Amino acid sequence: MTGDFRPAVALNEVCKRFPLANHSGQGERPRDGRFVALDRVSLTVSRGECLVVGGANGSGKSLLMLIIAGLEDPSSGTVETHGTVGLVFQEADTQILGETPAEDVAFGAKNLGLSKNETRRRVDDALDAVGLTGKANFPARTLSGGEKRRLSVAGILAMDASTVILDEPYANLDYHGVLQVNRLAESLLQSGKTLILLTHELEKCLGLADHFVVLHRGQKVFDGKTAALPGLPLERWGIRNPLEARGALIGDLVWR
Ligand SMILES: Nc1ncnc2c1ncn2[C@@H]1O[C@H](COP(=O)(O)OP(=O)(O)O)[C@@H](O)[C@H]1O
Ligand SMILES: [Mg+2]
Repeated sequence: MTGDFRPAVALNEVCKRFPLANHSGQGERPRDGRFVALDRVSLTVSRGECLVVGGANGSGKSLLMLIIAGLEDPSSGTVETHGTVGLVFQEADTQILGETPAEDVAFGAKNLGLSKNETRRRVDDALDAVGLTGKANFPARTLSGGEKRRLSVAGILAMDASTVILDEPYANLDYHGVLQVNRLAESLLQSGKTLILLTHELEKCLGLADHFVVLHRGQKVFDGKTAALPGLPLERWGIRNPLEARGALIGDLVWR
C-alpha cells in the first residue's frame, strides 16, 4: 500500500517555560526559576478528526495552539504538522482586518502571492463555505459575533488550511451564534479538514469529538475517547462535568 499516513499534528514532549519575572501568575508552577506553562505535552492528531481540548483558564490551551500553528516556539520538544494550520483567535474581532468580508478574506490570499482571478475564486469559495456569501460586501463591523468567527474561518480556508483550530469558539456567543459555529464545524469535518476546538464549554461541542484531551496546569491529564467521560475527575481539573448536570448521553453534548 502506498499513501501518506502522517498525522495532521504530532507533538513530542513539548515544554514552554517563561521567566518568573515576566509572569503575572505569581509562579504557581516554578521550576528552576522558570514558570512551566506547558510540561512535556505529547499529542497526535489524526487527519480529518475532531479533537476537543478541554481545560480551565490558564491550563495552556492557547499556548499549545500557538505552538502548533508555528506562532510560538516550544522551549523544548518537537512539533510536526502536515499541511497548513490555521488558527482562529479567541478574540476573532482582532483578526478581521478588511472593511468587508470579501476584502478581509482577500488579504490572506493576496499574501500568498496568488493571481487576481485565483484570489477572487478563493475568496468566493471560502465565503461560500462559511455561509457568508450574502454579506460579502457588508461592513465587517456590522457582523454578529458568530458571523465574525465564521469570517475568521473563511480567512484561513482561503489560505488552504488543512487543519483549523478554533480557540474558545463559543466565547460571548448567544445560542444562535453557537449553532452557527457548530454547523460550520460539522461542514469543515465533512470536507475532510482536521478540526481542533479549545474550550471549557464541553456541553456545547463534545458530541462532535472523535478525540478528547484535557490540559491541567500545563500537563496533559487525559487523552482518549469521550466514552471515558463519566469516570473522569473533571471538577478536579477545573471544568464542569457536562454529563452530571443533565444526565445526558455524550452524543447529546452538542448544541444543534
Ligand atoms: N507570553 C507569556 N509570558 C508569560 N506567561 C505566559 C505567556 N503566555 C501564556 N502564559 C501563561 O501560561 C499559562 C497558560 O496560558 P494559556 O495557554 O493562555 O491558557 P488557556 O488558553 O488555557 O487559558 C498561563 O498561566 C499564562 O499566564
Ligand atoms: Mg486561551
